Amino acid sequence: MASSAESRHWCVVPAAGRGARFGAGTPKQYAELGGKALLLRTLEVLARHPRIAGLVVALAQDDRRWPGWAQVETKPVLTVVGGDTRSRSVLHALTAIDGFVGRDEFVLVHDAARPCVRAEDISRLIEEAVRAGGGLLAAPLRDTLKRANAERMVTTTESRDACWRALTPQMFRRGELIAALEAAHAAGIEVTDESMAMERAGCRPLLVEGAESNIKVTTRDDLDLAEYLLRRRAAEGRV
Ligand code: CTP
Ligand code: MG
Repeated sequence: MASSAESRHWCVVPAAGRGARFGAGTPKQYAELGGKALLLRTLEVLARHPRIAGLVVALAQDDRRWPGWAQVETKPVLTVVGGDTRSRSVLHALTAIDGFVGRDEFVLVHDAARPCVRAEDISRLIEEAVRAGGGLLAAPLRDTLKRANAERMVTTTESRDACWRALTPQMFRRGELIAALEAAHAAGIEVTDESMAMERAGCRPLLVEGAESNIKVTTRDDLDLAEYLLRRRAAEGRV
């Protein structure tokens, strides 16, 4: 197997969500971001990365907007039909590449809704997660953390010392991630990221600090912020 210094990895891109919180007629992955579909922006930043071998995108069953991109930045792009939850969409994509990505090989998973991920963070994640046996980009919590009661009154202030916000990409061995997701589904537990499934399976994923600008576009305001971040990056020559 190639050493981590030169290894290339497939990336799963869940893009089968409905964007309920975004609320426009168009699902957010097809919202326009600087003249292109948000989803294409995300695929481009991933495909441009030299350590990424190809992309497998999970699309909603009734997605009529996918234009059939078979290649982005010369990298192959495959599609699968997603599931009714993010973790099921990821699982479908992971099993779809059975024929040519070994179970021991590391794969990345990156939300379609995070178009602002930086190449240098992807590079660091790959280096560190491969060495650690699995990991994820994350950002330390900066705000003071409050716990509330049912009336939304503060009961305690939690220590934020050991608290991180999970971002994507996340990176695990394909077979281990499939087994962990299947076990979570069998137990009826809705895991909201890959790390949560791996934690349940007894793994201790490594947190790799990434830029806060790797936002997940959830609302219209987030789309404006993403546009600003990408424009500023382009102006700095850091496309
Ligand atoms: N996703 C998916 N399959 C699902 C649900 C979500 O592939 N059944 C994807 C989304 O397309 C998105 C990523 O998972 O790229 C993160 O999900 P989220 O930000 O929650 O997107 P949506 O589920 O589309 O938005 P909302 O929760 O507001 O409906
Ligand atoms: Mg969602």
